[in-house]
Amino acid sequence: VEGSLVGRDFFDETTEQSAVKTDIVSKYFFAWVKIMLGPKVQAPRVAYVDLFCGPGKYNDGTPSTPLMVLEHALGDNVLRGRLVTLFNDHDQVATAALRDTVSGLVGIESLAHSPRITEYAIGADIMKVVEDVRRGNTPTLFFVDPWGYKGLSLSLINAAVRDWGCDCIFFFNYNRINAGLNNDKVREHMDALFGKERADELRHELQELDPKERELTIVEKITEALSANGLRYVLPFTFKKSGGVQTSHQLIFVTKSPVGYKIMKGIMAKESTDENQGVPSFQYNPATVRQPLLFNFVRPLDELEGLLCSEYAGQELTFDEIFRRHSIGRPYVEKNYREVLRKLEAQGRIVAVSPAERRPVRKGEVTFAGEVKVKFPAKDN
Ligand SMILES: C[S@@+](CC[C@H](N)C(=O)[O-])C[C@H]1O[C@@H](n2cnc3c(N)ncnc32)[C@H](O)[C@@H]1O
Repeated sequence: VEGSLVGRDFFDETTEQSAVKTDIVSKYFFAWVKIMLGPKVQAPRVAYVDLFCGPGKYNDGTPSTPLMVLEHALGDNVLRGRLVTLFNDHDQVATAALRDTVSGLVGIESLAHSPRITEYAIGADIMKVVEDVRRGNTPTLFFVDPWGYKGLSLSLINAAVRDWGCDCIFFFNYNRINAGLNNDKVREHMDALFGKERADELRHELQELDPKERELTIVEKITEALSANGLRYVLPFTFKKSGGVQTSHQLIFVTKSPVGYKIMKGIMAKESTDENQGVPSFQYNPATVRQPLLFNFVRPLDELEGLLCSEYAGQELTFDEIFRRHSIGRPYVEKNYREVLRKLEAQGRIVAVSPAERRPVRKGEVTFAGEVKVKFPAKDN
């Protein structure tokens, strides 16, 4: 059926890839909701908005994100009363299937706000519908998963993450965007996605590049556009094709919250199919599932050691400060910092002071709790 999940386009995505995508989105939703409903925030309402929702299930019956979200809500006493949802897809076959499945969910009538399922073609005016569902300052998680780039725009994502507590996850087909940048017929769509000026720059820069550099440049440009001059955190996760080299899709997370960033980083780190010296790859790579050593040629942890020593030379910072400042925009996770600092400490290249003890801890004993102070020697030492 043209335009539904059994359509031609869907075969661009493999089953495993879809499963990883669903996993990342639903795990983030669970963690995000916990914070929004938790003692610190106590949001009276939270919203989940899926602008390209599909039928909610794959052909083999595997539940997809809409169902994961609703089933989670049905199992949670508090969330049942506070979650509002909007599922949209311009394909009526998809929405009819979703309606059918949703109405069959056990306990669905116990949701205080029944899911709203709509059939708009995504364009600039969709945010009016979204605002109608959100009704005011409701923290909202957006999931934006079109097949191509139609309807996907920088202004849409900007509008989505504008308010407090609003995050956006979007998934796009890298090959189509890559090809679209060379295709004058879709110029308008590319301009909407990157912003006109940036799209022009990109077209120009790409002329000289090989495929690998091309990809890095495109992802970097999207990241730059979304980060809004550093006001927002952007985290990309790459899906590789079965050969392991070419990229098929990118999943990109955008948030203003350092907490949200840290949570998503942890989730994506766990979903990575490979790691190098304990540093996650932030990619799902079918080739490394089969052959984990294939890509193990750089040594990112050694690099982290050098980065920390030069960046913080002569300074004294707590572990938390180091981690918070340094990990943004880099692939490193907390345990990577602990490992490197522990090594530097054991080699006597830094001094670590635990405030609880008010004395230097014996070499090799520091656990690097958040408040431990680290002194880096000046550069010429
Ligand atoms: C990749 S599928 C979504 C899959 C879904 N997120 C999931 O995980 O199960 C993309 C969906 O977007 C819908 N779609 C594509 N372009 C659209 C547009 N401009 N407006 C609204 N829906 C659109 C298609 O009908 C299709 O069902």
